[in-house]
Amino acid sequence: MSRPTCFPDGFLWGAATSAYQIEGSPLADGAGPSDWHEFSHRPGAIADGTNGDLVCDHYRRFEDDVGLMKELGLNAYRFSVSWSRVLPEGRGRVNGRGLEFYQRLIDRLRERDIQPHVTLFHWDLPLALARRGGWAWRDCAGWFADYAQHMFRALGDRVPFWATLNEPWVVVDAGYVSGSHPPGRIAPRDAPHVAHNLLRGHALAVQAFRAAPHAGQIGLVVNLEPKHPASSSPEDVHAAARASAYMNELFLDPVLRGRYSERLPQIVGGDWPEFSEEDLRLIAEPVDFIGVNYYSRSVTRHDPGRPPACASAVRQAGAEHTAMGWEVFPRGLTEILCWVTSRYGRRPIHITENGAAFEDPPPEGGSVDDPRRVAYYHRHLRAALEALAAGVDLRGYFAWSFLDNFEWSHGTSKRFGLVHVDYATQRRTLKRSASFYRDVIASRGAALCGDGIRGGRAVPSSVLQAP
Ligand code: FCB
Repeated sequence: MSRPTCFPDGFLWGAATSAYQIEGSPLADGAGPSDWHEFSHRPGAIADGTNGDLVCDHYRRFEDDVGLMKELGLNAYRFSVSWSRVLPEGRGRVNGRGLEFYQRLIDRLRERDIQPHVTLFHWDLPLALARRGGWAWRDCAGWFADYAQHMFRALGDRVPFWATLNEPWVVVDAGYVSGSHPPGRIAPRDAPHVAHNLLRGHALAVQAFRAAPHAGQIGLVVNLEPKHPASSSPEDVHAAARASAYMNELFLDPVLRGRYSERLPQIVGGDWPEFSEEDLRLIAEPVDFIGVNYYSRSVTRHDPGRPPACASAVRQAGAEHTAMGWEVFPRGLTEILCWVTSRYGRRPIHITENGAAFEDPPPEGGSVDDPRRVAYYHRHLRAALEALAAGVDLRGYFAWSFLDNFEWSHGTSKRFGLVHVDYATQRRTLKRSASFYRDVIASRGAALCGDGIRGGRAVPSSVLQAP
């Protein structure tokens, strides 16, 4: 296999965030509450008792934050729009001041030559819609498309990349199977309908985008991970296949192959509903790119006690794990990008999230020393280069995350940022990983291929094993 030493011209070098995780001021200027606002204020819902009321205060500090992005050399920034800022009840009346926030953010980005990559739904659903049944309710798809249409009309002339949904699998699994995200229910029978309505909403939004007069591209963002069997026993091998169908194929198969994975009925006990041909045709509406969020692989064993896939993950002794308990497995990124390309055909892919939480030391001397995150990025970016060499049509890479932020049910206890945020003072400090990423961007990847990095401080060779 040839080893490319740099990324193609026009490659998107970005970092990502989402609205509820960084903005703060969730009810400011006429915004309506979201389900995450309500959920994070439920006693005991968030591990450390924090919420999104202030977090990074990005709503008020976005201009400085865009300045920091420029310092890193980013040419793209992925963020999401809070649906209930723009439509406080989720539908009907538009809140001009909410919309204005995103207009101003986008204008600042464009002034700095940073391309906006906008996600329409990154999990925070208007509470008014959640109370009517949220995504379990068929009409939710149409309300999502109406909201998307407002956004295309207002911002379509200045946004080159749109994503409809972020990680719909998590919306289904955490919201309706484990109950760790809103609506916080354990309602596995609703799960297929929630998945289906998310897909219908996605497709209706893509149709609205095609009908709008603007250029630009639109895609769907999914979280994928290789599922490796814990042993060669047929039981574990089947469990890994089921787990993969549930996570990796549930959304991509209907969008890119026009039907649900043939393995789904085995997963939900033969109970996968018969959805109409008309719906399936709608869902297969062509997209321009696929966004892949990659963090880890999962080593999987048969476990009848863990529906719906009857599979559970086995922690790998001796392997490196992040503060989330996720195994550091860079090769899995190459593997999953090649899997997408072989199962669904060669098509444009953006790595829309990749990164790691570690227990960073406090800022010292104007920096935060985070060698493990530097190594994580180094090895995963090398894995992305391997995917390019293998023929994957990779168009962009977005580090998760630009800033330390509110990590959902973990609150602010898990730090993923390239930039450290002191939540008490709101002071931002670049971590060493940010300087590393800046050097990679400046060299279009060439800095990944030497013995360490040029500029910044060298990476110890002990952490630079090839992926
Ligand atoms: C992904 C989410 C993102 C962030 C990272 C760590 O699943 O899309 O918001 O929480 O995980």
